[in-house]
Amino acid sequence: MLITKAPRGTNDILPEDIPKWLYVEDVIRKLCFEFGYKEIRTPVFEHTELFERGVGDTTDVVQKEMYTFLDKGGRSITLRPEGTASAARAFLEHGLFNQPLPVKLYYNISCYRYEKPQAGRLREFHQFGVEAYGSQSPQMDAEIILLCMTLFKRLGISDLTLKINSIGCKDCRHKYNELLKEYLRDNLDRLCETCNIRFEKNPLRILDCKNKSCNEITEGAPKLLDHICPSCKEHFESTKKYLDELKIAYAIDPWIVRGLDYYTKTVFEVKTGKSGAQSTVCGGGRYDGLIEELGGPQMGGIGFAVGIERLLDLMKDKQIEFPKSRPLDIFIANAGKDADFEAARLVQNLRENGFWAEKDLSEKSLKAQMKYADKLNARFSLVLGDDEIKTGQAVLKNMKTGEKINVSLKVLDMLYKVLKEE
Ligand code: HAM
Repeated sequence: MLITKAPRGTNDILPEDIPKWLYVEDVIRKLCFEFGYKEIRTPVFEHTELFERGVGDTTDVVQKEMYTFLDKGGRSITLRPEGTASAARAFLEHGLFNQPLPVKLYYNISCYRYEKPQAGRLREFHQFGVEAYGSQSPQMDAEIILLCMTLFKRLGISDLTLKINSIGCKDCRHKYNELLKEYLRDNLDRLCETCNIRFEKNPLRILDCKNKSCNEITEGAPKLLDHICPSCKEHFESTKKYLDELKIAYAIDPWIVRGLDYYTKTVFEVKTGKSGAQSTVCGGGRYDGLIEELGGPQMGGIGFAVGIERLLDLMKDKQIEFPKSRPLDIFIANAGKDADFEAARLVQNLRENGFWAEKDLSEKSLKAQMKYADKLNARFSLVLGDDEIKTGQAVLKNMKTGEKINVSLKVLDMLYKVLKEE
């Protein structure tokens, strides 16, 4: 009897699905190489204060969704809910800001959020993310968005909508918060409890509250995009111009504020046609204050993250074909002890030369071995018995066509030698 199941909101990735993950990861790796983004790997857990400071202590992620615990030394530890804060921490801790700027990084990570599980919303999920530090230029915004959209294109996913917005700088937001508060003041009793706290601490967060009644109130609120300062406006206009030049289609959505506090200026999301939690496959934006907030120099930053589970679901829905995984090259069946040793030697030789080769490992009869080879979809089989060992000849069978040819075991050995020397 199974003693327990996997925790709610987590998935096992089974061997049959791994080729899909590897394929997506390969496409990502190649793309990042071409764009000059280097991989970074950071710990699964960090000190809690990193996310409180980085992501923001009035966000849903920090207030409600973090897996936080005291370790045996009494330190507060959190499983990473996202990758941006961790990458920024590592960037600072290892002085990567001394490298030629912009420093461009990427990661493929697992993330943990205590959310209500549903289709496309998990408690353990995976993200491909990129971060670029040290450029405040709209060219950087455009490159990040281009990288993101190129990924979808390479994976064969079309008809996605790129939505962009600008949420301005600290000053723009400070002024806008006052406007928003003025608008909301008369409706405080209709806002949820959390939003009442946000009203005092961080009114912008009310705009991305998941509560329906709060959404109804914010529907008619003034739009931040209409109130950004001339410099942020110019940055946004210039970003759009680059996107136009690069022929990247986008729609402006003034209601994108993103759920994390570090964002400034450009923010964007990639939307699928799906409803609910699965509708956003990618989110990102600029964060020009984060590095400073974490104790580093003032410098620009921008990035995005794609949810891999949502991406794979989307590819499944769109019936996008994955490259077929390589089948078993050869199964070497045997009867008798001597033949078994010879089969083991041949199999090892083949493996040394890059073939996928298998033999019996559980004392099966010859008939059962052949059945097994069939089930594994072996392309070729070779049967070894006492006669074959004596004569040094065996029959190689093409399992698909049934064609058979006599081969010399010595020839096989010679072939390995030649292949090895190459
Ligand atoms: P985020 O919007 O919170 O942004 O997450 C990015 C993506 O991760 C989402 O668009 C979605 O595809 C996936 N995702 C988020 N939560 C879940 C979940 N519970 N289950 C399944 N998938 C999920 C960030 O995390 C930022 N760090 C992105 C970023 C990087 N901004 C700048 N640099």
